[in-house]
Amino acid sequence: MAGVTIRKVAKNYGSVEVIHGIDADIADGEMVVLVGPSGCGKSTLLRMIAGLESISGGTISIGGKIVNSLPPKERDVSMVFQNYALYPHMTVEENMAFSLTLAGAGKEEKARKVHEAAEILGLTALLKRKPRALSGGQRQRVAMGRSIVRNPQVFLFDEPLSNLDAKLRVQMRGEIKSLHRRLGTTMVYVTHDQVEAMTMADRIVVMNNGVIEQIGAPLEIYDRPANVFVAQFIGSPAMNLFLARVRSGAFVLEDGLATGISAPAGLAEGHKVTIGIRPEEIGVTADGQLVGTVENIEPTGSETFVEIRFGGQTVSVVLRERPAFGIGAQQALVLAKGAVHIFDRETGARLD
Ligand SMILES: Nc1ncnc2c1ncn2[C@@H]1O[C@H](COP(=O)(O)OP(=O)(O)OP(=O)(O)O)[C@@H](O)[C@H]1O
Ligand SMILES: [Mg+2]
Repeated sequence: MAGVTIRKVAKNYGSVEVIHGIDADIADGEMVVLVGPSGCGKSTLLRMIAGLESISGGTISIGGKIVNSLPPKERDVSMVFQNYALYPHMTVEENMAFSLTLAGAGKEEKARKVHEAAEILGLTALLKRKPRALSGGQRQRVAMGRSIVRNPQVFLFDEPLSNLDAKLRVQMRGEIKSLHRRLGTTMVYVTHDQVEAMTMADRIVVMNNGVIEQIGAPLEIYDRPANVFVAQFIGSPAMNLFLARVRSGAFVLEDGLATGISAPAGLAEGHKVTIGIRPEEIGVTADGQLVGTVENIEPTGSETFVEIRFGGQTVSVVLRERPAFGIGAQQALVLAKGAVHIFDRETGARLD
């Protein structure tokens, strides 16, 4: 087993730099999820770790050894892709054994490793089937089986669940987590789905435009996003943002409404900020100064998502209790029931 160390890693395609000198430390045995919007460089970084893409600058080390110039098969990593392309003419068993066959493994060794992996993945009863006779989730498990039999130091996953339907995704992400617990092998998992990131990761790496915006445990990132980008990217519905400034030790909105939120000491009078409040931290009240118009109500059963037009923007509110109002109602809000996140308006950086 091995950790992965990323130092000032950059990637250019011709004159275009798509990864701008990033640093990250992935501990031995850790499950790290790279998350970020489409095009931010997640796959490129993963492929550089795997050796499928050259590294334009900086170093990547696996198990303390710089691997920049090592070909993929000498890095002892194994990658599972979104399009896992099983060989259609081979059985599950043959598909899983394929890399061992290429490596010249003996019949007994192959059988033992394939059966161990099949046992872990619940594929034992399916070993003689061809891929076309499997469900999407079973095929995905065979693709993981192909990786497991190689017993790599690091597993790399690039959106392995995005071809599956919603229910199967939830099931498979549980299976991958329990696989990680059982094997204890370092895993780097790429997704653009922030729920997948939150539920699977020991630590999340949030990327944007070829840089790392924040690295931390899921709840650390949720509770203390480092900047406005992370605040908006992690959490669904997304965090509400309000433009405000400091007046007499408290925040007033740009249109002059008092928020009732006091400003941290040290912020100068007039300082322009962006205030972030998660939808579950906003409440409704029978009477109050901050009144908006209810635009939309979506009951999910356990909670209700409400959209309220307030101060020229749409505010998302998640209520545990069933709302007593209807669409079109004038409704007073409690902006700061709980945590308030304060960011500098200019830089977007967290201020507290
Ligand atoms: N071979 C290439 N030549 C030029 N540019 C490329 C090449 N491959 C990727 N890029 C660019 O590099 C950037 C990062 O791409 P990458 O595939 O790493 O994004 P991603 O974060 O994995 O996105 P997605 O979530 O859509 O898979 C993108 O702007 C992409 O257009
Ligand atoms: Mg990608």
